[in-house]
Amino acid sequence: MKAIVYDEYGSPDVLRLKEVDTPIPADDEILIKVHAVSVNRSDWEGLIGKPLYARLGGLRKPGNPILGSDIAGRVEKAGRTNSQFKPGDEVFGEMADYHGGFAEYVRARGTILALKPASLTFDEAAAIPQAGVIALQGIRDKAQVQPGQTVLINGAGGGAGSFGIQLAKLYGAEVTGVDNAEKLDFMHSLGADHVIDYTREDFTKNGEQYDFILDLIAYRSAFAYARALKPNGSYYAVGGSVATFLQFFVLGPWIRRISGKKVGLLAVQRNRQDLEYITELCVARKVIPYIDKRYPLREVPEALRYLGAGHVKGKVVITVE
Ligand SMILES: NC(=O)c1ccc[n+]([C@@H]2O[C@H](COP(=O)([O-])OP(=O)(O)OC[C@H]3O[C@@H](n4cnc5c(N)ncnc54)[C@H](OP(=O)(O)O)[C@@H]3O)[C@@H](O)[C@H]2O)c1
Repeated sequence: MKAIVYDEYGSPDVLRLKEVDTPIPADDEILIKVHAVSVNRSDWEGLIGKPLYARLGGLRKPGNPILGSDIAGRVEKAGRTNSQFKPGDEVFGEMADYHGGFAEYVRARGTILALKPASLTFDEAAAIPQAGVIALQGIRDKAQVQPGQTVLINGAGGGAGSFGIQLAKLYGAEVTGVDNAEKLDFMHSLGADHVIDYTREDFTKNGEQYDFILDLIAYRSAFAYARALKPNGSYYAVGGSVATFLQFFVLGPWIRRISGKKVGLLAVQRNRQDLEYITELCVARKVIPYIDKRYPLREVPEALRYLGAGHVKGKVVITVE
């Protein structure tokens, strides 16, 4: 089968299209013919090897040669003991170890995959898993948004942020989206009441405070984030630098004691139930998986270059023919 592979961390130039062995599913696995796979920032991080957590699979070189985590496709073969899916089923979801999707076939146990609703295209289904579940666990579970509350999403013009804005509006919040100038109109179009261009304004220094902040890209100090919270407000980071995350562990409990504000990390729990929940909202068109661009498999390097250059509004999807 064809796959996009890499064997060193670096720019999209280290990626190449290669003929590799088609995976053989174990007894408890399924083999899926990939129809679409979306690109996440986690793929970019896995490509360049930064932040440090992106090297968990291999410190000096990538542990897995194929990136790509959010797939949608058709079950080609089911292992002997896998009773969840059968050949022909249309499935989608996130690969358990965030890898393998930039290829014609993947094998998976399927425990966090779900059946694709017939009303969604493969492209739409592939756009949902990682970004949609991050947004759901941030906005529904951590924020428990009540109507009228103020929510700020930092990095709101990208994958998880574009789901996050729509969910926060659905739950009745007043939403502020922060991203680069190219994405301000896009964030408004998703429902954001206010938008901030991060290259011109620092939301932690403008005197505004929020009930809840979801941060897709955390690089500031824990104190800066606490400053941007109302009393009893909470802040959760999803992506960012490891140094920032460590600060949350050390300073978070202390900030909570002296101010009542929560500053911490959202460790996403991937599961089928949440994937199905956010997908139902997409089927009902209450939330739209917004696809900025589509690329064929051979153009994965271009797709990642587009993301790395800061242009992607919502999601980019690879269509695998
Ligand atoms: N905690 C967990 O369990 C978990 C699980 C899965 C994934 N993750 C992480 O979650 C993050 C999710 O990101 P995503 O897929 O939504 O990324 P994304 O689609 O790239 O969106 C991030 C957005 O942030 C913008 N941005 C960059 N620098 C910024 C800044 N200084 N201030 C404000 N916005 C900025 C980006 O725009 P530009 O175009 O300007 O760069 C982009 O629009 C990734 O880091 C991933 O590793 C965490």
